[in-house]
Amino acid sequence: MSRRLLVTSALPYANGAIHLGHLVEYIQTDIWVRFQRMRGHEVHYVGADDQHGTPIMLRAEKEGITPRQLVERVLHEHARDFFGGLPARSDAGDLGGFLISFDNYHQTDSDENRAFCEDIYAKLKAADLIAQRSVEQFYDPVKEMFLPDRFIKGECPKCSAKDQYGDSCEVCGATYAPTELKNAYSVVSGATPERRASEHHFFRLSAPQCEQFLRDFTQGSNRLQNEAANKMKEWLGEPGDNRLSDWDISRDAPYFGFRIPGTDNKFFYVWLDAPVGYFGSFRNYVAKQQALGRDISEVDFLDAAGAKAAGTEMVHFIGKDILYFHALFWPAMLEHSGYRTPTQINAHGFLTVNGEKMSKSRGTFITAQSYLDLGLNPEWLRYYYAAKLNGSMEDIDLNLDDFVARVNSDLV
Ligand code: 2FM
Ligand code: ZN
Repeated sequence: MSRRLLVTSALPYANGAIHLGHLVEYIQTDIWVRFQRMRGHEVHYVGADDQHGTPIMLRAEKEGITPRQLVERVLHEHARDFFGGLPARSDAGDLGGFLISFDNYHQTDSDENRAFCEDIYAKLKAADLIAQRSVEQFYDPVKEMFLPDRFIKGECPKCSAKDQYGDSCEVCGATYAPTELKNAYSVVSGATPERRASEHHFFRLSAPQCEQFLRDFTQGSNRLQNEAANKMKEWLGEPGDNRLSDWDISRDAPYFGFRIPGTDNKFFYVWLDAPVGYFGSFRNYVAKQQALGRDISEVDFLDAAGAKAAGTEMVHFIGKDILYFHALFWPAMLEHSGYRTPTQINAHGFLTVNGEKMSKSRGTFITAQSYLDLGLNPEWLRYYYAAKLNGSMEDIDLNLDDFVARVNSDLV
């Protein structure tokens, strides 16, 4: 029987170039997608840029442009690297870049995404799964904004190394809370941060109905690889352990994102609207397909009852670092707002180059564009990754000598 698949790769942040590490996932997804198409299955492969959040807002300010201008520019760069540039793949499919055959490539700062976020939020609220409470955080009095942990630095409380981030010390490896830093300062203005309270909105992940749902979801039906399911068991603990905490889904202005309905100055946290961006891209795609006279229904893929009746599947490909968001927050949000939940979540490991983390100083931080500019064939990298990847969450290594040897012996 023909399968009906909605497939996604994680949405790349719109504040940097696509590099060879990102490409592991897009190449892995694309190979799977092409395989399913060849088997005659119905496949809709959608992606988008992940455009909201503080780093993007601050980078735009630094460049003297609006966040909207920044994300628009980056969107075109990403599309060029993935498939040669917008618009995404036509059926004839003349692809450039790394030949990633997206059926649609969209953006999270879109009307479709806003509508889904507002709807999901309203439904969670109606289900009594949104709570409000006061949270104390670091505040930059010069810049007049709350500071995410990565924007606070200071001296390590253990070894006194200077210029360490608010969560861990790169010199001695200690981990700590940002409040423990000595002589903390704001990375944005250099000012000494103050503690300030503000009202935040939480998704009540700790509610019994969420916990019960997540136990069933993460342990049933091969939705997750074994390693991932075990990780989930660890995160969920035994019934009664109450390990899940409520999830803070709001951020104070100034913030580049969607304003939370019914508030003046609260915005959805970027991680709330990022996965919803899969739905936003799909809605945008359906509209384009329908305009071409194609018969495709959003309800069949996104609505809980509709997807069940139509027997459609939603398959995500992600990196292991974002499993928590995709296997806990995202399905719990969907389940309690009447939307379909993921059928399968495939997590892959990280890329190392010559056995080490990619690094600018070692010359192993290679962007998609610089690879192509050297005249290297994108198929070579696709082949190499295909030869190395498997269904596990293990890291894969791009050994540059081995890459040359394999290309010469197997492909040239
Ligand atoms: O980790 C990241 O790079 C995120 N931009 C991934 C988002 S995936 C999805 F949730 F949108
Ligand atoms: Zn230290």
